[in-house]
Amino acid sequence: MSDISSEPVFEFRGVSKSYQMGESTVYALNEVDLQVREGEFLAILGPSGSGKSTLMHIMGCMDQPSAGEVLLDGEDVAKVSASKLARVRRSKVGFVFQTFNLLPKLSVLENVMLPMLYCHRKRADARKRAAEVLEMVGLSDRVGHMPGQLSGGQRQRVAIARSLVNDPRVILADEPTGNLDTASARRVLELFGELHERGRTVVLVTHDPRVADVAHRTIVVEDGRVSESGALTSFVGMVKESDGKEVR
Ligand SMILES: Nc1ncnc2c1ncn2[C@@H]1O[C@H](COP(=O)(O)OP(=O)(O)OP(=O)(O)O)[C@@H](O)[C@H]1O
Ligand SMILES: [Mg+2]
Repeated sequence: MSDISSEPVFEFRGVSKSYQMGESTVYALNEVDLQVREGEFLAILGPSGSGKSTLMHIMGCMDQPSAGEVLLDGEDVAKVSASKLARVRRSKVGFVFQTFNLLPKLSVLENVMLPMLYCHRKRADARKRAAEVLEMVGLSDRVGHMPGQLSGGQRQRVAIARSLVNDPRVILADEPTGNLDTASARRVLELFGELHERGRTVVLVTHDPRVADVAHRTIVVEDGRVSESGALTSFVGMVKESDGKEVR
């Protein structure tokens, strides 16, 4: 369960990510301050192009900011070397990419085994565990397929299985139900719910407010800036309440 007294897993302090495009600078993230606590189930909402994937990539140590501090378990990962960043990522984070990022020349089973092999786990153990997580996402009958032989929704589920294979403390998923039918989406959300119940920190990007309903906290990204939707709701509530009281 989420616990507001638990330690922050992530802390962003004044984080910006900008790109130089000819004469102009594009800010994908603009001075973001954010804390995500151990055991939270957080949903990130926001329009297309608002900076959600950029935020997730920086959280997941896939990318580094142009400015600001990014603390992961209290350690600033904003400026560490690429190899150190990869080590941190492998040991702590499971990541589901919006575009899946499966390796086309490896089978479904091999794609899911890969994060374990990077962590120097035995091949036989990796094979057994990969088969287990593929069963969890309902793909036991596709282990020998190549990614190119799968549907979009099946590829998405392989990406989810791969993110879970090392049993990470933190699971970051960028639109994990975007390509799924209603039944598969429900199963995937239940799976994230179970992981959260088992104490994992789960962060999901979604366009779907129904997906956000299963999360315990929602933030909104707009034009590279982050706001708490809970704070927004209580702010609207306060305005209504004070409106009522002030009418005399
Ligand atoms: N490599 C890049 N070079 C230049 N601009 C970029 C680059 N990557 C992202 N951007 C810009 O940063 C902004 C945020 O992109 P991002 O992918 O984070 O959006 P998003 O909220 O995930 O959108 P979507 O919901 O469509 O996935 C966009 O305007 C995008 O064009
Ligand atoms: Mg995105």
